Amino acid sequence: MNVLVVGGAGYIGSHCVRQLQQAGYHPVVLDNLVFGHREAVSDDIPFYDCDLGDYDSVAQILKREKIELVMHFAAFAYVGESVTDPRKYYENNFVATLRLLEAMLDNGVKKFVFSSSCATYGETDTLPMLESLTQAPINPYGQTKLDVENCLKAFSKAYGLSFAAFRYFNAAGAAEDGSIGEDHNPETHLIPLVFDAATGRRENIKIFGTDYSTPDGTCLRDYVHVDDLSRAHIAVFEQLETPGIELFYNLGTGTPSSVREIIDAVEAVTGLKVPIVEASRRAGDPPALYADSSKAQRELGWEVKYSSVQDIIASAWAWHQSHPNGFDDN
Ligand code: UFG
Repeated sequence: MNVLVVGGAGYIGSHCVRQLQQAGYHPVVLDNLVFGHREAVSDDIPFYDCDLGDYDSVAQILKREKIELVMHFAAFAYVGESVTDPRKYYENNFVATLRLLEAMLDNGVKKFVFSSSCATYGETDTLPMLESLTQAPINPYGQTKLDVENCLKAFSKAYGLSFAAFRYFNAAGAAEDGSIGEDHNPETHLIPLVFDAATGRRENIKIFGTDYSTPDGTCLRDYVHVDDLSRAHIAVFEQLETPGIELFYNLGTGTPSSVREIIDAVEAVTGLKVPIVEASRRAGDPPALYADSSKAQRELGWEVKYSSVQDIIASAWAWHQSHPNGFDDN
């Protein structure tokens, strides 16, 4: 099967492309390289430097490459920026996605896998989180993901689109062979920033909030390995054979880790001391988010291989050590 991977040069997309290839599928990558890295995609995979909102080019690619299924990873994902510059988020995450879907439907491509987010839920006291939880995002980033989910539901009913929306928790880790991994610019995610503090590339790591109503006062998150996330995208192919099917799955390990626990685990994995500074809360951070992923386990046979956060951190550390400047070190 020929699969168009939109955002296939990005962090999660590039790991999924690898797995598609290993599983015998034919991935084709579309990425505008605003955040993606050309080096993250091997040269034997067809690559289009193109914007997902460019209807005419996308339509041509779908036809030329005989695409049967589209996976869509390309989104802006800086929560803070989505609050200060929501136009950018609605434009890229929603409007451009709509153009992509139009190009698909106009060309008879009716299978779609969408990267959604636990950010669609907003704050909750009901933990671990099930898919049935009320979705009330607290920032435009989460709202744009929810808007796409709602659009997909309507398209499924009206046009027979089959789709799976995966609500990721906190993606982390790197490929087992250390050849691809996380490289964001700017980097805002906790684990790579803690590495930088450990290695002296930054002075310290600021803990955003130590007065949350959590066991150690810092936020709890569900860190899930990027290769585990990727496997779910392939495991869902069979279900997508059913026309008009609508699928929603949480993807997380179900085990929460606090910010302090992540810092401790980085110290254990690296053997380095991490200088910390206790800082005030970051706006828009819910105290605790962790998944009940039993639906994905039950329906897709999805299991996490990386159930320990130390193992996830160890894989990220291997990548970070060989690529302290990300893909610039290739
Ligand atoms: N944190 C710090 N210091 C830092 C960076 C992060 O204490 O320097 C804390 C945050 O406050 C949070 C935790 O570490 O409690 C994780 O923060 P990340 O920025 O790594 O990730 P988020 O939990 O903010 O991730 C959110 C959503 C995802 C979404 C992602 C987009 O949970 O669904 O933002 O970047 F995809």
